[in-house]
Amino acid sequence: MQLDVVTLFPQWFDWFSEQRHVANALAAGNELRALDLREHTPLSGGQVDDTPFGGGAGMVLRVDVMDHALRGFYGIDPVDLRRERRVIALTPGGRILDEALVNELAAEPAVTLLCGRYEGFDERIVQHFCSDAVSIGRYVLAGGELAAMVVCDAVLRKLPGALGHADSAAEESFSAALGGDPEYPHYTRPADYRGWNVPDVLLSGHHEEIRRWRRARSRERGATGGA
Ligand code: ADE
Repeated sequence: MQLDVVTLFPQWFDWFSEQRHVANALAAGNELRALDLREHTPLSGGQVDDTPFGGGAGMVLRVDVMDHALRGFYGIDPVDLRRERRVIALTPGGRILDEALVNELAAEPAVTLLCGRYEGFDERIVQHFCSDAVSIGRYVLAGGELAAMVVCDAVLRKLPGALGHADSAAEESFSAALGGDPEYPHYTRPADYRGWNVPDVLLSGHHEEIRRWRRARSRERGATGGA
């Protein structure tokens, strides 16, 4: 899979790319590119934003700058780019990122994430260049970079080779194996700590009973909205 992030801060992604599961996913043949929005700006002094028409606080990313940037990176009109790959604007009001969306994106061969800054994007960027708008939650970050990392993290760990253990992503919170419920509680040694005991069933060695116990705890968490 090719994951591209268009950002004013490409260097932020150097650290991210070095993290174990990301590095594993990249070593397995996937690609994560941080593309500098300023690289192709047609404006002088590396300008990328402007004051909003109609007044108001903050600055807005310009549509002409994004047009030039996407043309520069992909060599085609961005209006056509979104028919070739998912082009996603990261914005607080977008579709909330959840497990279903992560799975959708992990199945794509190529995705481009656009990071806003300041007051966000000129709406024409979202309307004409993007296939989706995605939010990681109903709160406002200073920019889309951390949201892009959240999306990349959640997507890349789904890809073969990212996690050490082949089953780690199969039976985890919200997976089909758990009927979409959160994961069951885990315990490890010591079995008794300050009188807080691990449930007996987990020490019993009865695999079927353990499976049933875990499924029941998972369902309970799903019903109560617990972690
Ligand atoms: N950009 C700023 N805030 C954001 C959020 N909550 N989700 C996605 N992109 C954002």
